[in-house]
Amino acid sequence: MAVQPVVYGSSDRPPRGNYAIAADDYTCDQDWGAISVEQHALFERLFQRQIRQMPGHACDEFIHALARLGMETRIPRFEEISRKLRRATGWEIVAVPGLIPERPFFSLLANRRFPVTVWLREPHEFDYIVEPDVFHDLFGHVPLLFNPVFADYMQAFGAGGLKAEGLNALEYLARLYWYTVEFGLLTTRDGLRVYGAGILSSGGETVHALTSDTPQRLGFDLERVMRTPYRIDDYQDTYFVIRSFAQLFDATAPDFTQLYTRVAALDTLPLNARLRGELTYSPNPLDPDATTGDQS
Ligand code: PHE
Ligand code: FE
Repeated sequence: MAVQPVVYGSSDRPPRGNYAIAADDYTCDQDWGAISVEQHALFERLFQRQIRQMPGHACDEFIHALARLGMETRIPRFEEISRKLRRATGWEIVAVPGLIPERPFFSLLANRRFPVTVWLREPHEFDYIVEPDVFHDLFGHVPLLFNPVFADYMQAFGAGGLKAEGLNALEYLARLYWYTVEFGLLTTRDGLRVYGAGILSSGGETVHALTSDTPQRLGFDLERVMRTPYRIDDYQDTYFVIRSFAQLFDATAPDFTQLYTRVAALDTLPLNARLRGELTYSPNPLDPDATTGDQS
C-alpha cells in the first residue's frame, strides 16, 4: 500500500493528537511512562520490518546513524536520543502532539530542534497512515540529523521557511521539503539510494522508488522542484536525485527571493512532466534477494 504522511498541516480535517497538552511553541511532554507494552511492541514490529529493507536501499549515512539510536525494541525516551544528537550535531528532538502549523515548525528547525509526534499509529494502521506518527518521525527523520551537512540543511530550511512566509512562497518551499527531506534519492557508486524519510518509513515505497519502471527519476534542479506538485495519496510519479548532501546544501544556500518571483510567473507542471534535456536516472536493477514489502 502506498502511503504517505503529509508534511506539515494543510489538510482539511483537524490534526490527530491532543493539543491541549502543548505549550505555546507546540512542544509537549513525551510522557514516556504512559506508553503501553502493546505500543512498544507495535513500534518494534514496525522497526523490524523497515530495518530489514535498509541494506542496499537506504543511504549509508542513514544506516550508520540508525544503528546508534538504540530504538530496535521500544519507543525510546526522546531525551536519550537528544543526548546523542546534541553530541553529534547540536540538534535535539522535542515532543509535539502531532502536526503543527508552519511557523512553529520552521522556528523549531531554525533552532535545531526537530519536532517528533508523541502518538503511535493503531495496529490496523500498520501499513497505512495519513499523518506522521512517532515511528515515521523517529525512524525516518532522526538518523540523518546525525549527518553534519544534512543537519545544517534542515536548520537552513527552517530559517528559509520563516522568510518564505513573508514572501508568499510556502507552497514552493513545501515542494522542496517533499522532494528532498521526505522523498529524496541519492546517487552513489553502488547505485541509487534513498534518504527521504517518507520513503524509508513506508512499507512498500523503498523498493518501488529504487527499482520500479513507473516513476521518473530526475537530477535535482531547484527551480524544477519548486514547480513540481506532489501527491500524498500514492507512490510518487517523480523523484529527484542528488549527488551529495553538499550539493543539496550548496544549491539551496543562495537567497531564494528572486527564484520565488520567477517560479510564481511560471506554470505549475503536471505531476509526471518531462522537460527537454532533463537529466534522468535509470532504476536500480532488481535484487532477487530483496524484500519487496507490500507493493500495490
Ligand atoms: N536559501 C533559502 C532562502 O534564501 C533558505 C533555504 C535554505 C531554504 C535551505 C530551504 C533550504 O530562502
Ligand atoms: Fe516526515
